[in-house]
Amino acid sequence: MDTAVDHRRASGSRRPFEVRPLHPALGAEIAGITLEEAVGEAVFAEIYDVFLERGLILFHDVDLPPATQVAFARRFGEVQVHVMNQYHGYADHPEIYRLANLDADGNPNGKHPDMGTMYWHTDGSWRPTTGHATMMYSEMVPSEGGETHFADMYGAYESLSPQWKERLGSLKAFHNLDFSRTRRHGHDPMTEEQKAKVPPVAHPVVRTHPETGRKSLFLGDHAEWIDGMDYAEGRALIEEINAMATPDHLVYRHHWSPRQCIVWDNRCLLHRATGYDPATERRVMRRCTVLGDRPY
Ligand code: SIN
Repeated sequence: MDTAVDHRRASGSRRPFEVRPLHPALGAEIAGITLEEAVGEAVFAEIYDVFLERGLILFHDVDLPPATQVAFARRFGEVQVHVMNQYHGYADHPEIYRLANLDADGNPNGKHPDMGTMYWHTDGSWRPTTGHATMMYSEMVPSEGGETHFADMYGAYESLSPQWKERLGSLKAFHNLDFSRTRRHGHDPMTEEQKAKVPPVAHPVVRTHPETGRKSLFLGDHAEWIDGMDYAEGRALIEEINAMATPDHLVYRHHWSPRQCIVWDNRCLLHRATGYDPATERRVMRRCTVLGDRPY
């Protein structure tokens, strides 16, 4: 959407920045202040309100060295050190998960760094305390593809029939990083040590957002089986719900420019990357995931 909505007028409040919705279902661009100002004492509470209202906030023209990214992400909470330590791009900042297709000389190496990111998922759903926010920064972006898509899981839940709500309301799904990694990026599986750190964990299929109180669907590509259900039946149900939860009208497609920063709420959105040509294009993204609560 290109209509600029000034929430200072829309809400009657006097926010010292502009909020421009990106899509009817979710997302807002923040204009008129820098990301540094946004995470500062004076404004952060209001920025956080927009994050909760819209599920995703976007900043342009951001100067974000790795140390600053970690410091800014900490404004949202404790930052995860990802178990897949081969993605720790910076020795001093293991909190950063670096997705890059460059060789030692900075040329495209022909390999997608993490093919699991191309399927709808929510960060850290394979942990007991799942992802709260993810802050992702675009260092280099391809001329074609390499978008990130976001799907509104409040909307997905709200559009279910009463029968589906009833059916899903009491189910739990086991989320398992080893399952999704093996399935999507099996040529480079988890080590035994990595697997031992993150055994499968059960979460409700319908969760209540701990801050907004709204219900959302909580599945995605890390969900492997349904507790108490025949494995094949549970797999089929998970695939069916994942497809049903992501219709076009609930999806915001972000086409990246360099030096953008997006912070999104993993408790109410799924996301996925789109493909690009890793042999000819460069894509370097840095991600910090902030830990959240145990879903209920
Ligand atoms: C992710 O799945 O966290 C990364 C998405 C992307 O690379 O666009």
